[in-house]
Amino acid sequence: MRVSEYIRLPVSGGEQISVRRLTAVDVLDLLGIGVSQPEFECAELPDSWKEEELRLWLQSEFDICLGAYDIGGQLVGDCLSHVHVEANKVHIENVFVTPKFRRKGIASGMLRILKNSYENAFPDKRFRLIGVVLCSNRKAIRTFEKAGFGIGEKCYWLQA
Ligand SMILES: CC(C)(COP(=O)(O)OP(=O)(O)OC[C@H]1O[C@@H](n2cnc3c(N)ncnc32)[C@H](O)[C@@H]1OP(=O)(O)O)[C@@H](O)C(=O)NCCC(=O)NCCS
Repeated sequence: MRVSEYIRLPVSGGEQISVRRLTAVDVLDLLGIGVSQPEFECAELPDSWKEEELRLWLQSEFDICLGAYDIGGQLVGDCLSHVHVEANKVHIENVFVTPKFRRKGIASGMLRILKNSYENAFPDKRFRLIGVVLCSNRKAIRTFEKAGFGIGEKCYWLQA
């Protein structure tokens, strides 16, 4: 997906939503929707993503991070990923839609666009896209399923 390209997302409820790749200039908008929502890891918490780290991430040539925009150009959702090209893996780090815009197909639409974007960017690769979701987060699980993901092996969350 070219950085300047907008993809119109067909969503329910009469909204007009477009999706494009985020770049470093979008970092403050991304933090903006993050700080307003406790569940988003970009909040100003000690162990959340920092502006400079996000900026570098959005500058990456290979990692694809998407933003969903309403008709007024307001960022209303994001889908952030890291690619490990040689290992054929894409890790989906965050999927988020602001509450007013939920249940319209935006998150599942972004996940589908993310998958297509990697397929187009690396036509000779077969990537495995991996997202981690809490077992209790049923709506997130359904969102991934709606985008064509299946539940993989059940894992333990190990941390040090
Ligand atoms: C999870 C989240 C990203 C879903 O975004 P969304 O744009 O509302 O998702 P979609 O509209 O594409 O919904 C996809 C499916 O998920 C399920 N779903 C989503 N929200 C739901 C809700 N509130 N109640 C029941 N099912 C729900 C539905 O099956 C829905 O499909 P349907 O509307 O055709 O029935 C959003 O709720 C969110 O930002 N949550 C907080 C952050 C989070 O938990 N992120 C995921 C982990 S990284």
